[in-house]
Amino acid sequence: MRAVILAGGTGSRLRPLTNLINKHLLPVGEQPMISHAVNKLRQAGVTDILIITSRSAAGMFTAYLGSGDSEGVALTYKVQEQAGGIAEALALAEGFVGLDDKFIVLLGDNLFEDPLKPHIEAFRQQKDGAMVLLKEVHDPERYGVPVFTGDGSRIERIEEKPENPSSSFCVTGIYMYDASVFDRVRAIEPSARGELEITDVNNAYAADGKLSSRKLEGWWTDAGTFDSLYEASARMRGARG
Ligand code: DAU
Repeated sequence: MRAVILAGGTGSRLRPLTNLINKHLLPVGEQPMISHAVNKLRQAGVTDILIITSRSAAGMFTAYLGSGDSEGVALTYKVQEQAGGIAEALALAEGFVGLDDKFIVLLGDNLFEDPLKPHIEAFRQQKDGAMVLLKEVHDPERYGVPVFTGDGSRIERIEEKPENPSSSFCVTGIYMYDASVFDRVRAIEPSARGELEITDVNNAYAADGKLSSRKLEGWWTDAGTFDSLYEASARMRGARG
């Protein structure tokens, strides 16, 4: 299975740190943030990885990670010209992912404890569709939040940053897709904030009854704000791939 790490965006909530440096190159523990995503994938046996980042940051990523040889992975890079949304960045992976293949997507600012392997194995067993990984959090309004069906057996839809979250779960930035994801991205429209939203893509799967979910057991945080960046750094202190 191939993997895509999304490492573009503006990192606006971490200004002024991100005025000069892409968020995913900021230190988390003893390594730049991007290394943790690469390490997680390699530990799960996923070594063919596409990194998507912005035009201004691409040079720093290649300078730091190069071919991926020294990390035990094979890296490909693509540039997202504007921060047009997570789904827009994902669309750039179409040529990298085989036409019939399933693949995994990591938001590069998500840090977590769980090994990916069991989740990937579960998705391999799934005939088609998509899988999202959930985590119970104290501030679900910051994230995509699943609305479960009455019997709680599956996700009916996901609400993006809802004022009144219907559950205390967050949809983490760990997604697994079949190749129909690219047609689904083409079918969505930009949101009110002008972005192609990954939640709209996931909702297209949910509407077809093809969105499954699993729960993360270990700690999880994104590192998109100062508080969460500090938390991630403390958690990752001493962790190396
Ligand atoms: O962290 C999980 C959350 O990530 C989910 O619960 C939300 O449903 C999802 O929309 C997303 O929310 P954020 O507001 O945290 O997304 P953010 O704009 O911070 O972008 C997250 C990652 O995606 C970040 O690592 C950079 C990358 N990205 C983002 C944008 C907008 C890109 O590569 N390109 C982009 O255009």
